[in-house]
Amino acid sequence: MSKKVKTSRISGFYKLPIEERLKIVADFANLSDDEKKLLLVNGKPGLGLDLKTADMMIENVIGTFDLPLGIAVNFLINDKDYLIPMVIEESSVVAAASNAAKVARVKGGFKAKASESIMIGQIQVVGIKGESKLANAMLAVKKQKEKILKIANEQDKVLVSLGGGAKDLETSVIKTSAGEMLIIHLLVDVKDAMGANAVNTMCEAVTSMIEEITGGKVRLRIISNLADKRLAYATAVFDKDALGGGKVVDGILEAYAFADADPYRAATHNKGIMNGVDAVVIAVGNDWRAVEAGAHAYAARYGRYKPLTRYWKNEKGDLVGEIELPLAIGTVGGAASVNPLAKLCRKILGVKNANELACVIASVGLAQNLAALRALAVEGIQRGHMSLHAKNIAVMAGAKGDEIDVVARKIVEEKKVRLDRAKEILEEIRK
Ligand code: MEV
Repeated sequence: MSKKVKTSRISGFYKLPIEERLKIVADFANLSDDEKKLLLVNGKPGLGLDLKTADMMIENVIGTFDLPLGIAVNFLINDKDYLIPMVIEESSVVAAASNAAKVARVKGGFKAKASESIMIGQIQVVGIKGESKLANAMLAVKKQKEKILKIANEQDKVLVSLGGGAKDLETSVIKTSAGEMLIIHLLVDVKDAMGANAVNTMCEAVTSMIEEITGGKVRLRIISNLADKRLAYATAVFDKDALGGGKVVDGILEAYAFADADPYRAATHNKGIMNGVDAVVIAVGNDWRAVEAGAHAYAARYGRYKPLTRYWKNEKGDLVGEIELPLAIGTVGGAASVNPLAKLCRKILGVKNANELACVIASVGLAQNLAALRALAVEGIQRGHMSLHAKNIAVMAGAKGDEIDVVARKIVEEKKVRLDRAKEILEEIRK
């Protein structure tokens, strides 16, 4: 018997009832009945994150807070099919990512790669006065590098046994409003962890040795969220015809040029990328503020805020897109290992490690951006947004069951997505 081909290319997924969608996802990802129960129980929201676990995650817990979890379909990344869990409150994002992934599939999907998981821990040394003393302190730190790395590595034997740990350090002197400072960067390979705990512990552990060597006073010891040694990259060719023709390609290129030249536009351009990136980062239980901070700092790394994606036209007139951003994300440790929903989402994704997860997230970011630029260049963003928004308005107007779709469709057709009009239509159809 031939084995069923596992594909994420699912047409009409959005039209299916919720339970059928879950069945497809469960088949794809081999979810157990208990795992399915985390999401749905008899058509109602499932067990989710239990209070006991929540109470261990943060302080002063009084409950848990739900957000919609959707699945983006059609993603082919490095020749592997993925169903992408996305946690987000904004309408159109999941649909847009799925559409862009469908277009990318025409030319083979996304090709992605991620660097080693090197995170930077910063150690601030103050109180060393004068150029020559600072230069000597830098030299002394470099001379004692192996000893410093050894102390750092004693803090995390497990990480070291996996091939990770503190690998190198860098020194610099910076001029600040509080005088010159020696800054040491501890470079730590954190493997499949996000890494903040490991790095912060290592930085704190080397304090007295650094003070001894430099004669200065160590103040801050903390990870840098500008994780520019932990980058993810994805690229895709978007078929001209699947995009809607040469004019659409040109429109997208103009939209990209706008973002490249104007930080006001670049901020929104990157926000659209982060719609996709954050939604997956949250789904897999990771620190999305860290990813946000890293992405925006990276976007400004040349002293001017720039888009995280780039686009150009190839010789066939197709659109080529690429994205590069730092992704400090983990598949072990922290909430990723504690929150049962995060573990479930990771299982749905089927990623083996943080490197593969970074490849997926970068691809979703590119897809999200492409979808936004296409919508903006072709028809404006509101039409897509409006259909779901219209459903909300219909519900607010009191529509029930099938009435919701009828009212929503009508107010969109009439371009009157307003509560008063929805109420009128509801009255009319009930008569
Ligand atoms: C909205 O959440 C995101 C967009 O504004 C992104 C963009 O303008 O590129 C549509």
